[in-house]
Amino acid sequence: MSGERFLKGAKITGVGYYVPEKILTNADFEKMVDTSDEWIVERSGIRERHIARDDQAASDLSYEASIKALEDAGVKAEELDQIILGTATSDMIFPSTACLLQEMLGAKNAAAYDLTAACSGFIFGLSIADSMISSGKAKKILVVGVEILSRITDYTDRATCVLFGDGAGAMVVEECPPGEGILSTFIKTDGKYSDLLYLPGGGSRSPLTEETLKKGEQYLHMRGSELFKYAVKAMVQAAKETLDKAGLGPEDVDFLVPHQANIRIIEGVRKRLKLKKEQLVINIDRVGNTSTASIPIAFGELVESDKKIVKKGDLVLFVAFGGGLTWGAILFRR
Ligand SMILES: CC(C)(COP(=O)(O)OP(=O)(O)OC[C@H]1O[C@@H](n2cnc3c(N)ncnc32)[C@H](O)[C@@H]1OP(=O)(O)O)[C@@H](O)C(=O)NCCC(=O)NCCS
Repeated sequence: MSGERFLKGAKITGVGYYVPEKILTNADFEKMVDTSDEWIVERSGIRERHIARDDQAASDLSYEASIKALEDAGVKAEELDQIILGTATSDMIFPSTACLLQEMLGAKNAAAYDLTAACSGFIFGLSIADSMISSGKAKKILVVGVEILSRITDYTDRATCVLFGDGAGAMVVEECPPGEGILSTFIKTDGKYSDLLYLPGGGSRSPLTEETLKKGEQYLHMRGSELFKYAVKAMVQAAKETLDKAGLGPEDVDFLVPHQANIRIIEGVRKRLKLKKEQLVINIDRVGNTSTASIPIAFGELVESDKKIVKKGDLVLFVAFGGGLTWGAILFRR
């Protein structure tokens, strides 16, 4: 095992997720833009995605996922030392969505803050939680990934609107003996490619005005095929480095939970790591790309489908990639 571990370990003890009830199918998109079910399924693997109600904000989705994660862990909200929330679609620019969630949960002892690492936000959050706990600065942390991408999606742009969905996922991370739980983590950034996926308007560079709204700056902009090239390479690097740090290889992994951006990216990662199809956790067909929420939703669904499916001691690898560019991985034993 690498020398980066401290005297304490950090373990994921609870998982919860929430996806809104409303579903948009590929057939719905056929009526909205010039596309087809066949194109969407073949090029992305997506069949349907969930869309938040108008009265729901990121904190509402986060709350639903968080109460399930806390219940799963048997942890009370007041016991939390921190709440780390990854999102690019916070309720408002400030206060952070984590602050709003702290109040909703009654987590009165938790320091709460948001972080933005696009689709890798949940992995960045778990990595920080691991460092905080293994260095003795916290004992119980709630990590949340939430996205209401439907609010920043241009539903006239067929190249992006068919891809994204809304949802939230949460995990409770707690102190444990060293060598258990999280074995290694890896996070990385390359800001050179920040223009491949970004939301131009509403920040200090380009505040929303009538003019910027007319230009569509309130919507996310993506250069999909260029991102695609980096995604597979970055996710493979993250997986390999994380496994290397723990002295393990892809063959040791029981479940790989990749960020669900595109089935062809997931397949590319699987092939390059020489993994079997059975090792992969995939739900992109039913939820689309939920950005930072995708990994906790996919893992939450897996655990919920059958409590015995992920057994104690199983090796699980989370791997993400997103705008920034950002990418990373978390390796842990259940
Ligand atoms: C977005 C993505 C699905 C597009 O697939 P692609 O095979 O790269 O397709 P391209 O963008 O090259 O477009 C190919 C053609 O399909 C068209 N097209 C795009 N969206 C379409 C849609 N919904 N329906 C039908 N045609 C579509 C394009 O206009 C283009 O047409 P043209 O050749 O006449 O110009 C894919 O690039 C992708 O998933 N990229 C990465 C996404 C990602 O990682 N996101 C962020 C990180 S989380």
